[in-house]
Amino acid sequence: MKKILILNGPNLNLLGKREPEIYGSLTFAEYFESLKIKYPTVDLHYYQSNVEGELINKLHEVGFSFDGVVLNAGAYTHTSIAIGDAIKGIETPVIEVHISNVHAREKFRHVTYIAPNAKGVIAGFGLQSYELALQSFL
Ligand code: DQA
Repeated sequence: MKKILILNGPNLNLLGKREPEIYGSLTFAEYFESLKIKYPTVDLHYYQSNVEGELINKLHEVGFSFDGVVLNAGAYTHTSIAIGDAIKGIETPVIEVHISNVHAREKFRHVTYIAPNAKGVIAGFGLQSYELALQSFL
């Protein structure tokens, strides 16, 4: 059974309430339940933190035993050299995901410290971005 972690960064705990015109009206808990039902043969884990260091600690914790990490680092994508380094330092492949198409938004969202160290990037498909990343690990 493949072990996959979905890791969400800052403000993604507000999904469902936060700017629903961009991020939709489903909570992540609801979406995660639907994913678990759809992929019963995957050992799916979920963690969210608004704290940069906690995201790094989680990457270190799973990064030598899990088969994949689906990472939406939120705004840390565009700022965090430390998260980029953490991905470089672990063995587990990481896929960068975004709900919105960051390339169609503000210039500062076009920068990513995750992508150079990621297996790939999926952006702009709403919550389905997570599922597409998951499928690529399976
Ligand atoms: C996001 C895009 C980021 O630019 C933003 O800071 C987020 C969410 C997305 O999923 O579209 O918090 O990662």
